[in-house]
Amino acid sequence: MSANVPKRFELEIPIACDKELEATKVAERVAQEMQFGPDCVAEIKLALIEGIINAFEHSGSAIQKVLVEFAIHDEELEVVVQDFGQGFDASSKPNVRPLQRRGYGRVLMESLMDEVKYFTSPQGTRLVMKKRRPKCA
Ligand SMILES: Nc1ncnc2c1ncn2[C@@H]1O[C@H](COP(=O)(O)OP(=O)(O)OP(=O)(O)O)[C@@H](O)[C@H]1O
Ligand SMILES: [Mg+2]
Repeated sequence: MSANVPKRFELEIPIACDKELEATKVAERVAQEMQFGPDCVAEIKLALIEGIINAFEHSGSAIQKVLVEFAIHDEELEVVVQDFGQGFDASSKPNVRPLQRRGYGRVLMESLMDEVKYFTSPQGTRLVMKKRRPKCA
């Protein structure tokens, strides 16, 4: 990996239409630098888009921004989406609504990433996702 990519860094994304795409451009560059293959790069980008859109759509945040953090570890890439909204009960099973074609986002992120965890409170939600390198040559 090139020396000019820091091990951990953060982006601030305004809650506004299409702004999640800026984060995915950074995710793509980081994942490519980490030697993830094209399929894995696409999986990371898709999971990140869903995590950010969930924060935009569901957080109810008065603070009109979301933080996206990348942490490059030897074995994995960690991607965090932090919002400052109302939180939710992440221990409940995802509420899939087939008629509305809604409720698939969490299931999707879990299928795309190796680990998906929520840390959520009335002060905000922190979504922590990890993608391990070895599975993704
Ligand atoms: N950052 C968040 N803040 C508050 N609630 C959240 C957040 N992320 C997810 N949720 C809650 O979890 C539910 C499930 O999210 P999920 O992404 O699975 O489905 P969805 O966003 O409702 O629909 P879809 O992603 O299929 O369009 C959401 O409906 C919302 O209630
Ligand atoms: Mg969703």
